[in-house]
Amino acid sequence: MSAALIRKSFSVIKNLNKFNNNLRLAYAATLPKPVEKPDVKYTKIFLNNEWVDSVCGKTFKTINPATESVICEVAEGDKADVDRAVKAARDAYKLGSPWRMMDASERGVLLNRLADLIERDRVLLASLESLDNGKPYSYAYNADLDLSIKCYRYYAGYANKNHGKTIPINGEYFSYTRHEPIGICGQIIPWNFPLLMQAWKLAPALAMGNVVILKTAEQTPLSANYVAALSAEAGFPPGVISVIPGFGPTAGEAIARHPHIHKVAFTGSTEVGKLVAQAAAQTNLKRVSLELGGKSPNIVLADADLDEAVDTANFGLFFNQGQCCCAGSRIFVEENIYDQFVEKSVEKAKNMVVGDPFDGNVVQGPQVDEEQANKIMQLIASGKKDGAKLCTGGQRLHRKGYFIQPTVFADVKDGMRIAREEIFGPVMQILKFKSLKEVIERANDSEYGLAAAVNTKDIEKALYLAHRLEAGTVWVNCYDVFDAAAPFGGFKASGHGRELGEYGLEAYTEVKTVTIKVPSTCK
Ligand code: NAI
Ligand code: MG
Repeated sequence: MSAALIRKSFSVIKNLNKFNNNLRLAYAATLPKPVEKPDVKYTKIFLNNEWVDSVCGKTFKTINPATESVICEVAEGDKADVDRAVKAARDAYKLGSPWRMMDASERGVLLNRLADLIERDRVLLASLESLDNGKPYSYAYNADLDLSIKCYRYYAGYANKNHGKTIPINGEYFSYTRHEPIGICGQIIPWNFPLLMQAWKLAPALAMGNVVILKTAEQTPLSANYVAALSAEAGFPPGVISVIPGFGPTAGEAIARHPHIHKVAFTGSTEVGKLVAQAAAQTNLKRVSLELGGKSPNIVLADADLDEAVDTANFGLFFNQGQCCCAGSRIFVEENIYDQFVEKSVEKAKNMVVGDPFDGNVVQGPQVDEEQANKIMQLIASGKKDGAKLCTGGQRLHRKGYFIQPTVFADVKDGMRIAREEIFGPVMQILKFKSLKEVIERANDSEYGLAAAVNTKDIEKALYLAHRLEAGTVWVNCYDVFDAAAPFGGFKASGHGRELGEYGLEAYTEVKTVTIKVPSTCK
């Protein structure tokens, strides 16, 4: 196969479900070389299409998690910066402003242009993402960039298609609905997929004609700032997009409490999601959408193709250093294949190459920061203490950087902390089950309900389980299959609302009903 064809046909999501390592290596070899030491141009606050220092003048350090060295200083946004961004946003959203006067289709043109620019600078963006977050460059180039670009393009198409209805109400009236933007949308994103989370937030909001104030995670401000610069180049009017690097309890909370912000979209921990919902309720009842944590069950039935199920479970847990809200972190395996499944999963985890994210052989980089690495190590310790069987891993690597060995626990019991709490790291839990009825009850016995998976060749069992699992997404014989067209979000404490797809428009749309009397006679 030619290098161009390999590059075109490879998808992390599709191919790593079958963990085709040879294909992955062949793919990595075709990639343009990363920029390992990029000159970071955009380190300030993006306001009115310009770069400004924070009002208080403070900065914070952003760290390379693979080396623990400082990449650069970044402006630290605070409440005063949120106030300033709200002022810019209100001007941009005024009746008669260029943004309000713009044709809906033209907003789509701008989003497509932004997607083109991201594609143009794909190597640099993937490099920045890898540097700031620690994820392998080949994965960033493929999965993160591909999904981000497609998300902007998908919603570009929706810009002039979110139409209302005409309603046959009683009486001589003409009644119709208009789908209007909500207005000023605050958006708070996490560090695990900085570019993609920015795309999931900006694309639908802008397509619908809202203006946005995005706060990036303090661990990973760089790639989103670069995209902000591209948005100005694409031609979005000043004030439509503000990007504020900064911390949660200061800049984040100021967004959640601001009386002139009409909506807040948050992705992150369930704990902070509750604070955001509370802040919105205590202030102006701004609309809230939340995409929070999970402890997703991945169920493997005895009739499944064992090797494929092992590969899928490996990918579903270890992808992105285990830092996925939907990680398949409770793997329920039917008893008669349990020992074999554990053995193969341990073997697979032992063969994973951990190390420098810019090395094409590497499938697992460092965790994002010291705090996350410590949290994971504490949960590993609790697993050992509670009597789960540590089959492989369990240690930090003896080198600089927040690296943790791929870890597998077997004989995990439902009540253990490692079976209940989100670990957000490369730690797999394997549990045993006997019957479908039992596994449904156990899988659903969680405060969370983000995702679930079923591995089986039996269509009846697949459907039976898919319809009974309490989860916003159910994958059958695959994992982490994402597409801008397919909605994503949680049941229960995993969140409110859906992102992506047509459903994702609801989070950025107000519905207005207009009713007009129809005259009974007319000259
Ligand atoms: P976090 O929930 O604290 O951070 C996510 C975002 O919320 C960041 O931008 C942060 O600055 C902001 N934030 C923090 N406190 C805030 C507040 N009071 N008001 C408004 N915004 C606030 O998550 P953190 O501390 O980085 O990670 C802790 C755990 O959360 C992880 O170990 C993982 O279990 C979970 N998590 C889940 C994510 C998901 O994709 N659902 C993403 C990141 C973390
Ligand atoms: Mg936090």
